Amino acid sequence: MTGFTSASPENHPWWRLSDSATEFPQHNSVDSLPLLVVESPLCRSVIAPQGAQLLTHTSYGRTTSNNDQLLWLSPTALFVRGKPLRGGVPLCLPWFGPHNEPGKPQHGFARNEDWQLLGAQADSDGNVVLSWGFGQYASQPHPEFPWRFSARLTMTLGTRIELGLEIQNCDTSPMPLSWALHSYHPVSDLAAVRVRGLAGCDYLDNTRQLERRRQQGDVQFNGELDRIYLSVPDEQVIATEPALSIRGSNCPSAIVWNPGHAKAAALADVGAEHGREFICLERGNAGTNALSLDAGASHRASVSIGVTG
Ligand code: BG6
Repeated sequence: MTGFTSASPENHPWWRLSDSATEFPQHNSVDSLPLLVVESPLCRSVIAPQGAQLLTHTSYGRTTSNNDQLLWLSPTALFVRGKPLRGGVPLCLPWFGPHNEPGKPQHGFARNEDWQLLGAQADSDGNVVLSWGFGQYASQPHPEFPWRFSARLTMTLGTRIELGLEIQNCDTSPMPLSWALHSYHPVSDLAAVRVRGLAGCDYLDNTRQLERRRQQGDVQFNGELDRIYLSVPDEQVIATEPALSIRGSNCPSAIVWNPGHAKAAALADVGAEHGREFICLERGNAGTNALSLDAGASHRASVSIGVTG
């Protein structure tokens, strides 16, 4: 099956193969994409090999509630082979945002292509650990990106989501690199949501031609908001119900996005009625935090997402 190294990952009581037509019949999509479903005592997660994209994650970790959704998948997300999937944690790679050469795909191509499942195992804490590889351009570059590179994404799925990313420049000259783990999170009331942990940080405002500004206090949402925060502290908190903590290591940028009413209405895979259900709080290297990766060098980063407390 596409996206898996062998016919299927080894059978295990905590994971199984499925597809998008079975798991998301209400989405009425063009294609039925293969999916991996994790069902363990700690969580339920659905992952698409296309983009190694975690789509949903229900954590059973709290005593006060046993059903916390850490991610938002758009109810109108469309499953189409080779097209971005709206929600969960798409990975923007090897560039974040629009490319300065016209015609190249927004947020790179790694989210639109199949990754290979390199390993699946349960660790001693009851987490399911999945390792995904993107190695098809290690020896021959992608037509849109003239550097040979490879990437590996490790997902540790339990009461929290732990994502570990390693990107290697397999080429002989320095490789430009920007990226983000573009996570979508559900919010109970967009007007009341606050993002903590960014006060005092500079940001590039994508609603004002990337004008540089400084954040005063918590981030609030009153219409479209699209910002690349630079050199941020390791942890941000999305104050909603339940509050979520997002901790990043080696990913100095935090991109905060909600399309606002008009742009949500114009996005077929969001729609006016769903635009207030989520915010994105993405961690990575973007804007002036973009990297140049030396020949042969690797960049390692991690992001951890969970309910606070
Ligand atoms: C965010 C960007 O990261 O992703 C926004 O800051 C962009 O500018 C958004 O609109 C969604 O991008 P896409 O390509 O998934 O629709």
